Amino acid sequence: MPGPTPKEFLNYIDSHADGFIKRLSDAVAIPSISGDATHRKDVFAMADWLNGQLKQVGVDTKLVDLGRHTMDGEDLPLPPAILGQIGNDKGKKTVLIYGHFDVQPANKSDGWDTEPFTLTIDEKTGRLIGRGSSDDKGPILGWLNVLQYHHEKKVPLPVNIKFCFEGMEESGSEGLDELVERESKKGGYFDGVDCVCISDNYWLNTRTPALTYGLRGLSYYKVTISGPARDLHSGVFGRMVHEPMTDLIQLLNTLVSPQGDILVKGVDEMVPRPDEDEKAIYAGLNYSIADVEEAAGASIALSADKVSVLMGRMREPSLSIHGIEGAFSGAGAKTVIPAKVSGKFSIRLVPPQTPAAVDPLVIAHLEAAFAKLGSKNNLTIENLHGGKPWIADHRHWNFEAAKKATREVYGQEPDLTREGGSIPVTLTFAESLGVNVLLLPMGRGDDGAHSTNEKLDKSNFLEGSKLLGTYLYELAAIAK
Ligand code: BES
Ligand code: MN
Ligand code: MN
Repeated sequence: MPGPTPKEFLNYIDSHADGFIKRLSDAVAIPSISGDATHRKDVFAMADWLNGQLKQVGVDTKLVDLGRHTMDGEDLPLPPAILGQIGNDKGKKTVLIYGHFDVQPANKSDGWDTEPFTLTIDEKTGRLIGRGSSDDKGPILGWLNVLQYHHEKKVPLPVNIKFCFEGMEESGSEGLDELVERESKKGGYFDGVDCVCISDNYWLNTRTPALTYGLRGLSYYKVTISGPARDLHSGVFGRMVHEPMTDLIQLLNTLVSPQGDILVKGVDEMVPRPDEDEKAIYAGLNYSIADVEEAAGASIALSADKVSVLMGRMREPSLSIHGIEGAFSGAGAKTVIPAKVSGKFSIRLVPPQTPAAVDPLVIAHLEAAFAKLGSKNNLTIENLHGGKPWIADHRHWNFEAAKKATREVYGQEPDLTREGGSIPVTLTFAESLGVNVLLLPMGRGDDGAHSTNEKLDKSNFLEGSKLLGTYLYELAAIAK
């Protein structure tokens, strides 16, 4: 049975593919890397570009200054958030759409086959390759594609839309919580919002569309060991002094087992065990160990049991060690004793964990482990950023609308997933507005967000744009 979505809209998406891809390449060409101070101006340029695009398709927008922050010891202006609005019909539902226009760093030398900030179209595979193609410029542009049809053809949208786009998501969404909380109050910009839709994640596999009802939270730590007043020669000082790097490696070694068990006492223990009903959800997902290993590019899954591997990502916390700042990392074989080194690691959190509950356990653990070393070096622990985990009711009409839209566009039932990644503002939307939040992904599980050769398949860009539009029509058609 055909849904309420105009056929003309679906055809418009197909017949305007080239223009949409051109717009995506314009967006990818702006290296809006929020985590790199030298690119902060590009994040501002990206805000201006997106703001201009939104205006062109009829959105009433404003840029909101979020103030300044300190990153790696440098005082920097925060890129503005873009708030937008289109339609204000009391008889229609109002949906709030969120996305981020900043991206992760990327250099060709990291191992890219193409220039990361030049969108490359691989005609053979249909891949649109470039940093941000999937995370999160492609999905944002999907919404623009939907708006362009309605604006150009003067077709009224089936719902009122409010937009909230930010440029600091990849760096912890600095400044955004306060804005969302403020604007969610009575009379605020988001007052009257009925539900939220975020397209900023991926299908579980490469075949089945997904709707997502959970995200892990995050707490990010920097643990610094310092001692000598300067870098030392290991031939001159080796075995005469306490070495910061030795201490740090010992500390990092106490955090997590090679099997992924978190060794910080009390952290894994906070999470209730799954019952058989919950395990059945994971068993039912269209996923195999081969999917993980294909996406990871190696046969390195922690177990041969699909349910246990999926639970590791969806409903268990994880601890990852990301890097060591200050360590010798160049070419050659420098015989240095680094004077000051910082280990960086983070813990992905699941309900009922929160950064506030986990941080004291981590700090106590590190202090006790350091005391055991009997070192005369100094230890400092910093919390870089964090966010709470989020879980939503997937029986809500917001999810129902997305389910119907998925059936119409893809002719398939979507997977219902919880994600291992984090979007810190998700829970803030859910709590401040008191409405349902839906994650409606555009890209596939092998898109390689944050990795080399990030891509979005052309078919996902186009069908995904149809999906976002169709979801709006299904939202309007469904009773609250
Ligand atoms: N789009 C991701 C979030 C995501 C990742 C959802 C994987 C689902 C699966 C987002 O852009 C992201 O990378 N978030 C960061 C947040 C962090 C910096 C607070 C993340 O998860 O590392
Ligand atoms: Mn993202
Ligand atoms: Mn990301």
